[in-house]
Amino acid sequence: LEVSWNVEAAKKNGYPHYMLKEIHEQPEALRNTILPRLREGIPDFSEDEIPDELFSFCDKIAIVACGTAMYAGMVGKALIEPIIKIPVSVNIASEFRYENPLVDARTLVIVISQSGETIDTLAALHLSKERGAKVLSVVNVKGSTIARESDYVFYTHAGPEIAVASTKAYMVQLASLYLIGCRMSMVRGKFSQKDAGEFVSRLLDTIPAVQKILENKAKLKTAASILAKAKDAFFVGRGLDYAFSLEGSLKLKEISYIHAEAYAAGELKHGTIALIEENTPVIAVATQDHIYGKTISNIKEVKARGAFVILITKQHAEITDDICDMHFSVPVPHDRFTVFPVAVILQLLAYYTSDMKGLNVDKPRNLAKSVTVE
Ligand code: G6P
Repeated sequence: LEVSWNVEAAKKNGYPHYMLKEIHEQPEALRNTILPRLREGIPDFSEDEIPDELFSFCDKIAIVACGTAMYAGMVGKALIEPIIKIPVSVNIASEFRYENPLVDARTLVIVISQSGETIDTLAALHLSKERGAKVLSVVNVKGSTIARESDYVFYTHAGPEIAVASTKAYMVQLASLYLIGCRMSMVRGKFSQKDAGEFVSRLLDTIPAVQKILENKAKLKTAASILAKAKDAFFVGRGLDYAFSLEGSLKLKEISYIHAEAYAAGELKHGTIALIEENTPVIAVATQDHIYGKTISNIKEVKARGAFVILITKQHAEITDDICDMHFSVPVPHDRFTVFPVAVILQLLAYYTSDMKGLNVDKPRNLAKSVTVE
């Protein structure tokens, strides 16, 4: 009798790597995180025991996190600040406590952590509490240290994430920040019930959009085969698109070992454009209507200097040959919500690139899933 089945493979549920399995679990993770928080289509956190006063007492918000969680925070800021109209800062946890941060009793500190054990994030939480701030943590692992030590916890329901490179945890950190932003906007009188209902229905519409990307991966593999030959890659975007690009660049560098950097598209001309050579890959994200034209003109500049441009837009964008070499579109019409399918595209690009290079996708060199040293 030959047994060709093993526990590892079973846990991967037929996928070659945990990362690919976890990327595919994202629609379910989104449903698990969003649906239990809705009452009549509106975010309601009574089961999480998060009171509305937490969203009304503050005159500023400080988001603190590391790595991918910090990049989710960047999206949160770009989403929340323009609606709530109070300052929202995003802080790298390992810097936070050494820079005498402006945190006081009128600050809501939002700590984001998949593991709930990252030591720098925990130290930032301690400092915030010492200074009298209220701490809300967005955490995936139940009963983790950060969850226990926070004033309030908003659990993400990604389920266990095994691959070192975070994917589904990022996705539900985003969904959590969207729900928190929506509730806060209602509490602070920026959203009517109707606005909140519309916001939630747009958020829910991102789930089939994510699914659709997962069902159309062939062209992403072609793009990855080009990236796999590169030494450097650049990600560019403006506004929310820049926040998505930061995470896309982290994903690529951590598992493919390709030097990747993200730039606000308007900054290219202040230095980075000097690095563009024939066939340098540039992954450009342009999903925000109000800055679309500006981003496209930046992209044309790199394309004219020989870059191989992979462009991500919303559907129905008019694309000509002088803009890009490959084009992907996301089936989400509302600017604020494009991050969900865009994130999947960027994750799959990184995944296939790493796999094509024959690297250890789930356990990249020198990295750990949870960092409990400073
Ligand atoms: C490590 C992981 C990253 C993660 C970061 C923060 O560097 O490799 O994927 O984003 O830690 O982890 P946390 O558990 O606090 O979200």
